[in-house]
Amino acid sequence: MGFDDSAHLLHQLTMPAIASSAPAKIILFGEHAVVYGQPAIAIPFTAVKAKCSVFARPDLPSGKVNMNFAISGEMNDLHGDLSQFMDRVLRIVSNFARIDQYPASEIKVTSSIPLGSGLGSSASIAVAMIRAATQFLGLELSNDAVNELAYQSEMLCHGTSSGLDNTVVVYEKPVYFVKNKPLEKVSPQGMRTFIVADTGIPGSTRDEVAKVRSRWESSNIETESLFARIGAIANQARHLLENHPFIPVGNLLTENHELLQELGVSSQELDHLVIEAIKTGAFGAKMTGGGGGGNIVAEVKKESAEEIRAHLLSAGAKRAWITQLGSQERYE
Ligand code: PMV
Repeated sequence: MGFDDSAHLLHQLTMPAIASSAPAKIILFGEHAVVYGQPAIAIPFTAVKAKCSVFARPDLPSGKVNMNFAISGEMNDLHGDLSQFMDRVLRIVSNFARIDQYPASEIKVTSSIPLGSGLGSSASIAVAMIRAATQFLGLELSNDAVNELAYQSEMLCHGTSSGLDNTVVVYEKPVYFVKNKPLEKVSPQGMRTFIVADTGIPGSTRDEVAKVRSRWESSNIETESLFARIGAIANQARHLLENHPFIPVGNLLTENHELLQELGVSSQELDHLVIEAIKTGAFGAKMTGGGGGGNIVAEVKKESAEEIRAHLLSAGAKRAWITQLGSQERYE
């Protein structure tokens, strides 16, 4: 171990690290249409997380920040973007704190949320980083303030972000979200089981959002009508989630998926997993997030969840998780 390494180790042992984490999210209804003012429903997804720790490095020149990251998934080509992204989040924090230079430190991000998976990896990393990096400066931020900064970072990422991802990741509650409107919480009744399954193929939210925009620009009325139908599905789903615990929302998931196909943001691999989930007994399924790759979400009977999950893995999903919605204790 060289001198630098041992000095570094000593600092890590003597200076407490500030650490923070943030969950992923699943958009159940309304992605893309939400960018154009339609409602969407999203829930936190805690099976995968982003974590950030900040250590003081007084041995480094002033203003020098070492950034490290370790992200699960096979998306190495996005890693260059990630260091840029972390730099930008740190700049947002420094602007907020009105400092020219962030103190000499080491910032480490680890995340089990694959990049480009439609599970909100950029929002989760930003929220974990904003929380840890502001606490390191001695600042106590409210959730509203963290959300505002995370929205700035999402805008840099997607170009035109609705604010949905950062909101559900910050508040960690199921939300009914309409852009630029006060946040409404969804209070699901009963217990529902969902499977999230990953195609393992990254999609680019920025590209898919741009694709939808050019479709909207060239066929405005037709695209607006797809958005309105997606919005109507989100409203029906909210009604079922909050009032009819025994009526599945699966059909609505599938209808929403068909409209996303029409919008052109699904992919062969996403469609394949949606079909396989329904064939094996899911109530319904759809792609989730920006699309072009990433994950699907399927509603299933609790008793069939393990079997459907195993089937999706054998049908080509790279990962698959079972998650439940409705535990009141967790969401109140
Ligand atoms: O792909 P994700 O996890 O970043 O989700 C994007 C959701 C969109 O509706 C497509 C964009 C947005 O800003 O809401």
